[in-house]
Amino acid sequence: MPVTENSNDANQSGADVLQLDDSGKLRHLLTLQHLDERHITALLDHAETFLTEPGQAAARQETLRGKTVANLFFEASTRTRASFELAAKRLGADVLNLDLNTSSQQKGESVLDMIRTLQAMQVDVFVLRNAETGLAAKVASQVAEHVSVLNAGESDVSHPTQGLLDVFTIRRHLGRIAGLTVAIVGDIAHSRVARSASEALVTMGAAEVRLVSPASLAPDPRTVSPHARVLHNMDDGLRGADVVMALRIQKERFSDRDGVPGAEQYFRDFGLTRERMRLAADHAIVMHPGPMNRGVEIESSLADGERSVIWDQVRNGVAIRMAVLSAVCGTHS
Ligand code: CP
Repeated sequence: MPVTENSNDANQSGADVLQLDDSGKLRHLLTLQHLDERHITALLDHAETFLTEPGQAAARQETLRGKTVANLFFEASTRTRASFELAAKRLGADVLNLDLNTSSQQKGESVLDMIRTLQAMQVDVFVLRNAETGLAAKVASQVAEHVSVLNAGESDVSHPTQGLLDVFTIRRHLGRIAGLTVAIVGDIAHSRVARSASEALVTMGAAEVRLVSPASLAPDPRTVSPHARVLHNMDDGLRGADVVMALRIQKERFSDRDGVPGAEQYFRDFGLTRERMRLAADHAIVMHPGPMNRGVEIESSLADGERSVIWDQVRNGVAIRMAVLSAVCGTHS
C-alpha cells in the first residue's frame, strides 16, 4: 500500500527516524542499520528465555497485559504475521489482525487516518508490512509518544525481525556470529531479508558476508555494506562458508525480467543442493527465510536434511518477536 497522504517526507527512510527513546531504549524497530551490538545482543539474550522444547507448553507471560497490538499487513505473509500474533498473545496482549480487504481503506481512507483511528482505540503497537518503501517510518513519525511501530517487512529494503531471528538462529547453532563466513545466495536484488541479515551479521562481527547471485539479480551497489562481498559464482560463494542462506526469487518485485534465468536454468546454476553444500564447511548450516520454492532455489531433500535449520528459524521467530514486543513496551530493555 503506497503512503498516500500528502507529505514531503512520505518516502522518508526508516533509518532517519529515531528508533531509541531519550533513555536509549528501543521505541520503534524500523531497520537494523542503526542498532548496535549491545541492543541486538540484549534482544537475542531475551529471546532465549522464551524458547521451550518442542512438545512443551509455549512460554507465556503477562507482561503485555493491557497492551494492544495491531497487525496491518498490506502484503502477503504467513510466518511473520502468525508469529507476531502468537508472540503478542503469549505475552498477554490484545491482538487485532485487521482484514485490509474489508477495511475502510476500500472506501478511500488513507493509511494514516486508519492508524489514527486505531490509535484512538488505544492500539499501543503497530506491526506493519508494506510492498513500498517508507510506510513504517512515516507512521512512526506520526504516532503518539507511547505508541510503537514495528517494521514487519518493507519492500526490498528492510525486514528487521527476520534479520534478528537469522542471527539468533546462527548463534544458537554455531555458538557465535563473530568470525563466521556467511553466504547469502539467490535473488539478492529484491531481498529485504538479505539487507537486514547482512546488517545484523556485520554488526555482530561476522568475518565475511557473501552476497551470491546471477548478475541479473545482483544488489544495487549503493545498498551493499562495505563489509559484504558480491559474487556471481556459486562455488566461490559456498567454499568454506559456515552458514548458507538461500533466498526465494521474488518474481512479484520484478519490473524487468530481461536476463533473469528461468526456474530450471536457475536451479542448475544457482540452486542450493546437497552436492554444492560439500564446498561449505563440514559444520555448515542451511537457512531459508521462507516461503521456499523447492526445486528452484533449494533442493527439497536439502531443505529437509540434517544441515537444515529452516524450521528452527520459524520457531525462533516467535521468540525474537516476543523479545522485540517486550522491548518496545518497556517491559524489558
Ligand atoms: N520470511 C517471511 O517474511 O515470511 P512471510 O512472508 O511468510 O512472513
